[in-house]
Amino acid sequence: MRTIRCKNYEEMSRRAADVIAAQLILDPKTVLGLATGTTPVGCYQRLIELNREGAIDFSEVSTYNLDEYRGLTHDDPQSYHYFMADQLFNHVNIKAANTHVPDGSNPDAASACAEYDHMVENAGYVDLQLLGIGNNGHIGFNEPCSDFPVGTHCVDLTESTIRANSRLFEREEDVPRQAYTMGVGTIMKARRVLVLASGEAKADAVRAMCYGPVEPGCPASALRLHPDCIVIADEAALSKCPEGL
Ligand code: PGA
Repeated sequence: MRTIRCKNYEEMSRRAADVIAAQLILDPKTVLGLATGTTPVGCYQRLIELNREGAIDFSEVSTYNLDEYRGLTHDDPQSYHYFMADQLFNHVNIKAANTHVPDGSNPDAASACAEYDHMVENAGYVDLQLLGIGNNGHIGFNEPCSDFPVGTHCVDLTESTIRANSRLFEREEDVPRQAYTMGVGTIMKARRVLVLASGEAKADAVRAMCYGPVEPGCPASALRLHPDCIVIADEAALSKCPEGL
């Protein structure tokens, strides 16, 4: 695990976009794994600028998102389908047919998850996986639990995740209680992983990811076993890690 220490959110976003841009330049047919949440928004804005400037091209890129709320249709403004269209896909030259998000509108969890695993496998897995990290150490919606989940599965969101995500909903009771998420096993199959973290609220999770035991109580800790994982984090997110990391 390598760490790139940044001054603030802006620098983190720029550095992350630079890594993704380099990947797209080296391999125009890249399979990108993408994340939702507040953390990657600045990176997506920079990618949009780079695409407008002609520096990067999405025409042959395909994407697989980590997760989706169960029970939300694609056009629901709270869905991750909608988020990705709004924050990235509608603003770059990617083909809609090449973008993939688990199908939260399919109430049959087993079939929605199996179908998604099948698609990721058929794509040859992800070349570069972008991740945020939850305050509780989750990646995707892999919440702390007793063993690392392998494939895409349906999860019950923890109270801390529901509380954290309620800022994006009108009321806390509106936050869906379940989601479909790629498993830790699938994330680990990505050839390169990029974890972004910004702000003091992430400091405990970042410390646990980088220094705690590798155990499913902190799902992000599995990334320490990944052969090519880069953490791009700002000073505040690294504030509980030893200097020099
Ligand atoms: P955030 O979420 O980027 O909105 O902080 C990250 C996550 O929960 O994985």
